[in-house]
Amino acid sequence: MRISVIALFAAAAMAAAPAGAGSLDQAQKGKLIFQTHCALCHDDSEHMLNDNGPALFGVVGRTVGSVQGYQYTAALRDAGAHGDRWTEKRLDDLLRKPTGVYGGTTMPMNFSKVGDRKAIIAYLKTLKAE
Ligand code: HEC
Repeated sequence: MRISVIALFAAAAMAAAPAGAGSLDQAQKGKLIFQTHCALCHDDSEHMLNDNGPALFGVVGRTVGSVQGYQYTAALRDAGAHGDRWTEKRLDDLLRKPTGVYGGTTMPMNFSKVGDRKAIIAYLKTLKAE
């Protein structure tokens, strides 16, 4: 009896936690998506390791197709040569439909849910030197 009273009290205390405390924030949600949908091809560490895809540390604001040593398709290389940068808007478009932004790119992932794209971009924004 005593134990169940304590359990009830604990449940009530949890229910009274501030709104949102139980839900992951955007960047954390994005990190989880990254780990399951991006990490197999992209390194997100400051070591800038190229894999199947180019390293993504510092990608927000960076010139498109500009990581040293990565063999991009002409689609991304040419865009970078024209001065295109990865703005949040352009990243959102890429994640919605990569070939819609740069025809010929081999970047394969697309996300139809705006919330997923926002979360991924929130995480990408954290990938920068302090
Ligand atoms: C199966 C492998 C694969 C997966 C999974 C993948 N990508 Fe890519 N990504 C690539 C390849 C390959 C390129 C280079 C495309 C090119 O050169 O046209 C690329 C390019 C990119 C670029 C352009 C980077 C630059 O330096 O210009 C971004 C941004 C990007 N991916 C983000 C992501 C994100 C975010 C995810 C997860 C939601 C993801 N990718 C999942 C293979 C992948």
